[in-house]
Amino acid sequence: MSTNPSVPVIVRTPEEMTAWSRAVHGRGERIAFVPTMGALHAGHVKLLEEARPLAERVVLSIFINPTQFGPSEDFGRYPRDLEGDLAKAAGAGVDLAFVPSPGDMYPRGFQTYLEVRELQRGLDGPHRPGHFVGVATVVCKLFNLVRPDVALFGEKDFQQLAVVRRMVADLDMGIRIVGIPTVREPDGLAMSSRNAYLSPAERLRALSLSRALFAARTRAAGGEQNPVALVAAARAELDVDRLDYLELVDARTLEAVPVIDRPCVLAVAAFVGKTRLIDNVAIGERTLG
Ligand code: PAJ
Repeated sequence: MSTNPSVPVIVRTPEEMTAWSRAVHGRGERIAFVPTMGALHAGHVKLLEEARPLAERVVLSIFINPTQFGPSEDFGRYPRDLEGDLAKAAGAGVDLAFVPSPGDMYPRGFQTYLEVRELQRGLDGPHRPGHFVGVATVVCKLFNLVRPDVALFGEKDFQQLAVVRRMVADLDMGIRIVGIPTVREPDGLAMSSRNAYLSPAERLRALSLSRALFAARTRAAGGEQNPVALVAAARAELDVDRLDYLELVDARTLEAVPVIDRPCVLAVAAFVGKTRLIDNVAIGERTLG
């Protein structure tokens, strides 16, 4: 981290963003990009710090993307803290913060959406209809505006990372995608902007997600190769109000596996109170980096 952080340039319009990236590339410099929805925590900051050595310029975007929220989800109350975010961005050495408005990203008449078909079918897909179309569409738009050479995403959102990798490969975007391991609180809870919704009692029960995943990972490390037994070991630890899924899947295809004989991921999504949380761990060999 820089000891003398300088405030990042703030850019609000798509036109200014493209002009800046064109100028940077014109000087032969590269851009590393970290897209976020703001309310930055240590997980986001880790992505920014990992971005710093990868390019001459680091761009952060802050945009709460309406198209990836379902009608009953938390778009209206998603946490916002632009001032705090910019201070953290400055500390992490960010050169530019792109903070577009919904009207600029989705002007009247907008009607083009991007679908990554198979990878959106499982896990979060059925529980959040349209979510990954919204994610793929906005990430594609952000890539077109920021023009990064490399972009960093967290493994916390494992399915999102898989969808973005597939989109970049399928559409020949030529952007290097780097996955960053999940940053956790000291007690194991995966950092998330949505943790801010949790009451102290819910916060304790939220811890059962990581506890469940770690229990299964320990069993797997001890030689257990049966997904059913591993899921059962995890299920026994969960203390949640509604379980959307707890599944052991192939880390590449996100499809169920009959036996742990390849890089796998155990992924969970559950509600604690009204807050929906997700988490995952690698099981078996190291997952895809
Ligand atoms: P957001 O939830 O703000 O997350 C931004 C990035 O931070 C994502 O790549 C996410 O995986 C990563 N991240 C979140 N929590 C993390 C943690 N505990 N450890 C490591 N990385 C973590 O994900 C989104 O925004 C949006 O869907 C977006 C990609 C910006 C598109 O709108």
